[in-house]
Amino acid sequence: SNFKKLFLSLQVYLFVCSQVLLQVEIYEIEGNIFRLKIDEASPLRARYKVPDVLIKEPTTKRLFISHKEAGILVLSSVNEDYKLQVTSNPFQVELQSKGETVMSMNSNGLLYFEHLQPPPSDRKSTVQNEEAASDSSKEKQEDLGLWQEKFGNFLDIKAHGPTSVGMDFSLHGYDHVYGIPQHTETLLLKNTSDGDAYRLYNLDIFGHKIHEKIGIYGSVPLLLAHKPNRTSGIFWLNSSETLVDISTKAVHTPSRSAAETAKQRAVPLTDVRWMSESGIIDVFLLMGPTAFDTFKQFAQLTGTQALPPLFSLGYHQCRWNYEDEQDVKAVDAGFDAHDIPYDVIWLDIEHTDGKRYFTWDKQKFQNPRKMQEHLRKKKRKLVVIVDPHIKVDPSYTLYAQAKEKGYFVKDRNGQDFEGISWPGPSCYPDFTNPEVRKWYADQFAFKTYKASTNILFVWNDMNEPSVFKGAELTMQKDAVHYNNWEHREVHNLYGFYQQMATAEGLIRRSSGKERPFVLTRSFFAGSQKYGAVWTGDNTADWSYLKISIPMLLTINMAGISFCGADVGGFIGDPEPELLVRWYQAGAYQPFFRGHSNMESKRREPWLFGEKNTQIIRRAIRERYVLLPYLYTLFYRAHTAAEPVMRSLWIEFPEKMETFDVENEYMLGKQVSYSLGFDLNIFEVVWKPFCPGFVFLQIPVFQRGGTVIPLKTTAGKSTEWMIDISYELHVALDTEACAIGELYIDDGHSFQYLHKKQFLYRKFTFCKNILSSSCIDESGQYHTTCVVERVIILGFGKHPTSVTQTLLSCSDGKKTEVVFTYDTKTSVLTLENIALSVDADWEICIS
Ligand code: NOJ
Repeated sequence: SNFKKLFLSLQVYLFVCSQVLLQVEIYEIEGNIFRLKIDEASPLRARYKVPDVLIKEPTTKRLFISHKEAGILVLSSVNEDYKLQVTSNPFQVELQSKGETVMSMNSNGLLYFEHLQPPPSDRKSTVQNEEAASDSSKEKQEDLGLWQEKFGNFLDIKAHGPTSVGMDFSLHGYDHVYGIPQHTETLLLKNTSDGDAYRLYNLDIFGHKIHEKIGIYGSVPLLLAHKPNRTSGIFWLNSSETLVDISTKAVHTPSRSAAETAKQRAVPLTDVRWMSESGIIDVFLLMGPTAFDTFKQFAQLTGTQALPPLFSLGYHQCRWNYEDEQDVKAVDAGFDAHDIPYDVIWLDIEHTDGKRYFTWDKQKFQNPRKMQEHLRKKKRKLVVIVDPHIKVDPSYTLYAQAKEKGYFVKDRNGQDFEGISWPGPSCYPDFTNPEVRKWYADQFAFKTYKASTNILFVWNDMNEPSVFKGAELTMQKDAVHYNNWEHREVHNLYGFYQQMATAEGLIRRSSGKERPFVLTRSFFAGSQKYGAVWTGDNTADWSYLKISIPMLLTINMAGISFCGADVGGFIGDPEPELLVRWYQAGAYQPFFRGHSNMESKRREPWLFGEKNTQIIRRAIRERYVLLPYLYTLFYRAHTAAEPVMRSLWIEFPEKMETFDVENEYMLGKQVSYSLGFDLNIFEVVWKPFCPGFVFLQIPVFQRGGTVIPLKTTAGKSTEWMIDISYELHVALDTEACAIGELYIDDGHSFQYLHKKQFLYRKFTFCKNILSSSCIDESGQYHTTCVVERVIILGFGKHPTSVTQTLLSCSDGKKTEVVFTYDTKTSVLTLENIALSVDADWEICIS
């Protein structure tokens, strides 16, 4: 009766199995997010609740009861924008935004919750004691069977019995859903009516096929739904094996228009059913309403993309393996000899002493420090692999220490879990334990990691974890972690935690000063805070190049902007044309690394004839020239949770024809990339859904109305390019206007954060004036770099004069600018400008 009663959260109790009470909590969280939590009211023991993924306990807002009648309770947000209608029988929750039903939960009655039970032996006696006459003995047998499961030759003993949870969500008006990486699937999630649910279970599947819904390597349980006026998200915070079923259908509802009362309207509806093996139901409903709002909401919960050190946005050259120091030097020299920029050379597992990570093969790498000094002089970096498995070898310090301290994951009998991996018998550090993470992070200290220097960065592989000969090539679900949690509870978090510890180690070795770079194969929601991910062992085949785009777009949507696919395809040998095309694709993707398998032929970019070397060189150089723009996009990802690589629908949310496009995407707001042909001319093209696109070079377009900052040329590596001047590409829209940004800092430290040492600038073109101004006055960074050239695309007429004015100068003196104008292409080029990037200035065209 008290309609104005305020609630921080609503708690409802449900009964399952007519005996066990479930507690439902409903919260509104700051920023248009709702949280629904369901747990047993008094479980036999605590159920697993995912720790460390949320960056903080979310700030809840007050809800009030706006309506109450028998079996129905309506909760409203204080501003009454949102209403939650909770029905008791059957239990359902409907979420409305300004009168529009956006989502409803349990409308298909698929909520289930396997409550904890006493172990079978106790139960048996209980069952015997209490008269169980009504149970058939077969049922009893099946019941007991749920406490263990056979998978091939593996027996999974469920110490706490069956514990799965699940729930259905109906997304009203939506028939486009995306997200839940990682699968080798289309951008648009498919109906799973064929019985093949999307699986979120991190696995090492060598030679994985494409168009499969089985989980590979990493998972982010975030699903986005989009319709022209709204984007919403469901974040199902559960780290156990999870299945997602999707079914989109048209629902016929009576038309509201008076003229058509008799007619029925077909409204799309998507049902999404989440099922997890254990844990609790803890789900966040991201209410958008725009796609960018949902990205912010997800970042508010799990954090934003770490700002990568600039070098890591350059090109990376990897192979399993670069054999020895001579090989490393020769490959490094090859890049210079062929005038191809690159920043990082990588060492795979063979660089170690018998696959003991943090060590060096003494024959092949006799002086690793000297090798790094050589690379340092060349202004380049080294990345080495550090896998999680630790060779069982009492004389290996890492093993001996972890063994002694009890830091390994245990098997169900309390012994150190032993599996097989590259080194043979191996144990697995329990990264879920904060003490183990600290110890692991300490291994990266320069003193401890012999011959490591500050140009050495890290690659975490095999961290699903991969366990050869294990069930599905991973750890037994009944292995035991910190605080006695079974592996089944934490499985999808293992790689997340290893990368967390590694990144922490790299930060700590620099006394908190330097940004880390850590690439991981396995990931979870929130991995963006620790570095980059890649899509694992793809194959050198055109179909894998094609699928890499929706895969990367999906990972970007799930908050992890810094991602890439192995250029060329890891397994097999690409034909030269495929390799060249892959370089052209990779050059416009966030993480850009060429990598190949042991059995693959060598494929350094100059091994395929002069013509192909030339095209690859051009692609990589284009990447380097584009870095100021890319780095600015990463700053936006870091500060505003905007994905670097975006599906078209994100930028054109009302254009339905973009909703399933997956062979074309946007890099930020301003550049679009499409898989296609290759020409190199300036020409204006009009794309149907975004008029004003200017054709830079197929397959790359600059969007009309934008200014892109570039470097005037590429250097041997990012560090060689610090002093190279900038060039602005101004592509005018139909109103002859354009806008763009540039972010600059030292590219490697945390000074941008702690000392506000950065520049964040804005370029605006309006009424024939291009002006440079500051976006964030709190930042300061000294650079001698200038804007040297401006290219204005789509400029309507031949100018009579162009002048520049430095606004920070008191005299405001105008000086003439040299220009050329091409009537045929409407391109106006302004040369030799030399305007400081950190100053306010104007260029006037008349
Ligand atoms: C599997 C990784 O996916 C691959 O990139 C790497 O080269 C091999 N492991 C060897 O470390």
